[in-house]
Order: sequence, then structure tokens, then C-alpha cells
Amino acid sequence: MTAPASPTKVRGETILDVNHLVKHFPITQGVLFQKKVGAVKAVDGVSFELRRGETLGIVGESGCGKSTLARLLMRLEKPTAGRATLAGRDLFAASGGELRRIRRNMQMVMQDPYTSLNPRMTVGDIIGEPFEIHPEAAPKGSRQRQVQELLDVVGLNPEHINRYPHQFSGGQRQRIGIARALALRPEVIVCDEPVSALDVSIQAQVINLLEQLQEEFGLSYIFIAHDLSVVRHIADRVAVMYLGRIVEIGTEDQIYERATHPYTQALLSAAPVPDPEARGHRSVIRLSGDVPSPADPPSGCHFRTRCWKAQEICATQDPQAVLRAADPHPSACHFAELLPGR
Ligand SMILES: Nc1ncnc2c1ncn2[C@@H]1O[C@H](COP(=O)(O)OP(=O)(O)O)[C@@H](O)[C@H]1O
Ligand code: SF4
Ligand SMILES: [Mg+2]
Repeated sequence: MTAPASPTKVRGETILDVNHLVKHFPITQGVLFQKKVGAVKAVDGVSFELRRGETLGIVGESGCGKSTLARLLMRLEKPTAGRATLAGRDLFAASGGELRRIRRNMQMVMQDPYTSLNPRMTVGDIIGEPFEIHPEAAPKGSRQRQVQELLDVVGLNPEHINRYPHQFSGGQRQRIGIARALALRPEVIVCDEPVSALDVSIQAQVINLLEQLQEEFGLSYIFIAHDLSVVRHIADRVAVMYLGRIVEIGTEDQIYERATHPYTQALLSAAPVPDPEARGHRSVIRLSGDVPSPADPPSGCHFRTRCWKAQEICATQDPQAVLRAADPHPSACHFAELLPGR
């Protein structure tokens, strides 16, 4: 897939447009009179666009708000603030028939194929479940045939329709999850760490399947991972998240070869390099300390407590304001620059 010249220049039509999305979970005290004493700022002002046929990778350490973002988009959580449209329809204002159409059009593949499939349901019932909620998508008489077709599309034996999840391996179970997500023929699939629970040897197979299905059905993906190396080959663009915010977003090349945000640079530095020659020439940036609590993020730049370049301005001025300025690509840092030697 060819990468767009600039992440801010729209290559294709935008299918999903997310603006300043916020989710704060209240922290309460007291049993009888629950008093709000603070908030976990899980998602704290996230904006991005997803184009038709594109894969946007979303990467960040555990706890930075990736799953909350996915759940907001799936309308499993209510946003505290912000807007989003899917194919021009207002995602959060929709109700009734409009909401049903939106729900059909955006589906999710979960992280853990061991817990996300009901062990007491057959594979046929699991994959066919969306048809119970959206009967208009498949007339009753055709459902078994459609489920068998879906099994075939994801590389499973259609004759295994009456088996139970425990009779499949982890990789096969994730294929079942993908078949279920495809059942209603959505345009967008949100994949929340779809390969994180799988053996490394199986991960590539599942990623290849997702790529093949994207091509075949013209799908757009949001592909969430905690590791930059996992999304490299599937993503056209990558957004790097830290404590509820996007800190850098760009094409595959801009993020992996020309990252300008210190957090992205540190993540890349920590990633394993297969070629020992290349490893020898690279200085390793070590991130000190843990991710601060999203209930009490640092002032100014959220990353400043772990940043080796932090200066006074980083504590007083939020660099998010520079995120949408696209030269050479958006990076929320007062001192955004390539690493020396790049
Ligand atoms: N329902 C909830 N109530 C309170 N805090 C939550 C809830 N869901 C997630 N969080 C918190 O929000 C932050 C982001 O979590 P999550 O979105 O799961 O991150 P990630 O998927 O990147 O690991 C974490 O601090 C998590 O504990
Ligand atoms: S704004 Fe300051 S603290 Fe934040 S990443 Fe840039 S240099 Fe580091
Ligand atoms: Mg998660």
C-alpha cells in the first residue's frame, strides 16, 4: 500500500473523524454519598482521522488509554467530551435506526481470544450471533451457509461449525473472533491488541489474514498494539499515545525512520533490532521510571517526568498545541527534532 505524502493531507476519503475525544473516569469516596474526589484521565483529548482502506496503528505502553479509546469508538463507554463521525454520521449523538447502522458498520476484534468467546456456545452460534441482533443482515434460512462462508474466509474448516471454542488453538480462536467481526460486513474494524495474547509464530499469520481481508473487503482498520514493531508492517500510519494523548502521528516511514518526539524515539530504541550490525551502531535510550498515574498526570507535557530533554517550558506549556502543525509531521514536543545522526 502506498503511503500518503503527508499525514495531514487526506489521501482517501475520511471514514472516521475523531475530534478532541475525552474520557475521564470519576474517582469517588464514601459509600452512601459517593463524592467525586478526582478523575482517571484515561483519554485526554485525542484527535485523528482514519481514511477508507487505511490501517492506522495506535501504539503506547499499557495503561495509556488505548482500550478506552477503542471502547469509546464502539460506544461501549460514553465520552466525557469530544466528537466523532463515522461515514459522516455523528457517532455519539446517534440513536435508534441510525445507531444500529453505525453499530453494523464498525466492529471490534478483542485482545484475548481465550476469554472473548463464550465457551458454552458453538462456533456457529458465536459467529452467527451478530445476525440475531441485526436480522436484516441475513435471512434466517441463509445463516448457516453464511457462517460457513465466514469460516472459510478466515481459513477455518466450514465443517467445524458445531465445535466449541476449547477445541481450537489460540490462533484459530482469533480467526473465529475475526469471522464474527466480519459477519455484518462492516467498513471499519477496531482491533484491540489482536495478536498480543498469541505466540510470536502465530502473530504473523493472523496479521497476514487481516491484511488479506482488508484487500478483499476494502476494510479500514484501527490496529492497537503496545509495541511499535507489531504494527510496522500492517500500518499505513501510526499514532503514538502517552497518558491519554497522541504525542506523534505520521506515516510508517515518518514514525520508524524520522521520529521527532522523545517518547517515540525511546520506544523505538527499546524495540529489538534483528540485525546485530545495526544494533551496534545505535545508542539505546532508556526510559526511567514508570508511567505516572492518569489520575494525576504531570502539568504541561505529560511526558516531562521521564524525558531527558525536559526544560522549564515543558512544565508550564502543553505541547499538544503543536501536534497539528504538520512540519514535517505532527509531534507534540516543544523541542521536536530528529535524533542526531538521522
Ligand atoms: N472503567 C474504568 N474505571 C476506572 N478507570 C479505568 C476504567 N477503564 C480503564 N481505566 C483506567 O484508564 C487507564 C487507561 O486504561 P486502558 O484504556 O485500558 O489502557 P491500555 O489499553 O492502553 O492499556 C488506566 O489507568 C485504567 O486503569
Ligand atoms: S515537550 Fe519537553 S518534556 Fe515533553 S517531550 Fe518535548 S522536550 Fe520532553
Ligand atoms: Mg488495552
